[in-house]
Amino acid sequence: MLRCWGPHWGWVPWAPTPWLLLSLLVCTVPFGLLGEETRQVSMEVISGWPNPQNLLHIRAVGSNSTLHYVWSSLGPPAVVLVATNTTQSVLNVNWSLLLSPDPAGALMVLPKNSIQFSSALVFTRLLEFDSTNVSEGTQPPGKPYPPYSLAKFSWNNVTNSLDLATLSAIFRGHPVDDPTGAFANGSLTFKVQAFSRSGRPAQPPRLLHTADVCQVEVALVGASPRGNHSLFGLEVATLGQGPDCPSVNEQDSIDDEYAPAVFQLNRLLWGSSPSGFMQWRPVAFSQEQRARESALACQASALHPTLAYPLPHSPIVQAFFGSQNNFCAFNLTFGAPTGPGYWDQHYLCWSMLLGIGFPPVDSFSPLVLGIMAVALGAPGLMFLGGGLFLLLRHKQYSEYQSIN
Ligand SMILES: *[C@@H]1O[C@H](CO)[C@@H](O)[C@H](O)[C@H]1NC(C)=O
Ligand SMILES: *[C@@H]1O[C@H](CO)[C@@H](O)[C@H](O)[C@H]1NC(C)=O
Ligand SMILES: *[C@@H]1O[C@H](CO)[C@@H](O)[C@H](O)[C@H]1NC(C)=O
Ligand SMILES: *[C@@H]1O[C@H](CO)[C@@H](O)[C@H](O)[C@H]1NC(C)=O
Ligand SMILES: *[C@@H]1O[C@H](CO)[C@@H](O)[C@H](O)[C@H]1NC(C)=O
Ligand SMILES: *[C@@H]1O[C@H](CO)[C@@H](O)[C@H](O)[C@H]1NC(C)=O
Ligand SMILES: *[C@@H]1O[C@H](CO)[C@@H](O)[C@H](O)[C@H]1NC(C)=O
Ligand SMILES: *[C@@H]1O[C@H](CO)[C@@H](O)[C@H](O)[C@H]1NC(C)=O
Repeated sequence: MLRCWGPHWGWVPWAPTPWLLLSLLVCTVPFGLLGEETRQVSMEVISGWPNPQNLLHIRAVGSNSTLHYVWSSLGPPAVVLVATNTTQSVLNVNWSLLLSPDPAGALMVLPKNSIQFSSALVFTRLLEFDSTNVSEGTQPPGKPYPPYSLAKFSWNNVTNSLDLATLSAIFRGHPVDDPTGAFANGSLTFKVQAFSRSGRPAQPPRLLHTADVCQVEVALVGASPRGNHSLFGLEVATLGQGPDCPSVNEQDSIDDEYAPAVFQLNRLLWGSSPSGFMQWRPVAFSQEQRARESALACQASALHPTLAYPLPHSPIVQAFFGSQNNFCAFNLTFGAPTGPGYWDQHYLCWSMLLGIGFPPVDSFSPLVLGIMAVALGAPGLMFLGGGLFLLLRHKQYSEYQSIN
């Protein structure tokens, strides 16, 4: 079980060691100075007219590789990610086969022998828990209400939300069957965004991205919770690469001005790097104005094989991978029984990156590097031990005070 530190802003659960600080300083500066790789990114809705299904293809061409991300709300929201070692690879869709009961082979990336890595992610269910009378840190965080199957949602026409300027598109859905009217004024959205170069969004948690990743922002807005103290979660399934499930690791991350007080980065790796990865900061927000006051802790369970219980099937995953059944699933839950929560404003938002290659790693921001340069100076080099550490900590913290 992974603890997330979102709302414990005043508390320092982890502090960088002098050696880590030093190695980061030494290792990250040269990379920071190198030009980052860019990709030619295209985003296209593949029409299956006249059937109303969303199939969004992101194709990112680099100097000697092409990445494909295929998003769809056919069945539960899902993405197939494929990396190839050529700039020429293409996606081939056979709609009649895709909509048939056995869609295997309906989605292909050609030429087949150029494929270096492929996997998939499926958002299977929206979970809701009653956290009344539950003490903090227990898992699951309360009595589960019946989950919402995302395969039984109806989704907007994603074409109308496609924004080629920001390379983004939004899948917005609500349950087809909503007897209590919980989603009468609400929706669950997946905002998918691609990038042609590395950077960092303006909004927290400001995940550092490269041109090799897709960012997904999941937001639950306006839906009526079933209790006064509802915590929400997402069940996520993925394909294992072999007999075992991938694991979610918690990395120590640098705390600097971009994500103050969130010291962790959670990462799911499908294989040894470079392969595919999912990466997020363990923090969600309960207000559109994303700030410390609205930060929620998030917890990720371990991955389990899903043979024991049925998950909604994703036709696009079946279409690409055939009848592979080595699925693994895990739960993400957002918030704690106390503190800010969905109940405040009926708003919840969480972001993650999905990518192929080396996961982006935070390095010190220019501001912090500047502080270090000043703090170190030439004589400071003599103190490259504990002294440096204390000095940096002092400088860093005083800097936060002025920012906040
Ligand atoms: C989605 O919207 C686009 C543009 O408005 C339209 O051309 C397309 O037919 C729509 N697709 C479906 C499945 O309704
Ligand atoms: C692909 O390009 C990158 C950077 O341009 C280079 O480092 C890498 O060796 C190339 N890979 C192959 C297989 O040519
Ligand atoms: C699509 O799949 C169907 C069913 O397998 C097949 O009959 C048809 O020829 C395929 N279409 C193309 C364009 O490959
Ligand atoms: C791509 O990888 C395949 C093996 O996976 C190899 O046969 C092929 O030569 C590679 N192509 C290039 C352009 O490197
Ligand atoms: C919560 O605990 C209080 C006191 O222990 C009890 O009166 C109340 O019924 C409990 N509520 C629920 C929903 O279990
Ligand atoms: C939905 O919004 C309308 C108008 O704002 C309001 O009257 C209604 O009570 C809301 N329904 C729910 C279930 O929140
Ligand atoms: C929810 O809160 C309202 C108002 O505070 C209260 O009247 C109601 O009994 C609560 N419902 C439950 C299930 O605790
Ligand atoms: C996720 O939570 C739900 C509800 O508690 C539970 O039924 C399901 O087994 C959990 N899935 C995983 C992979 O832990």
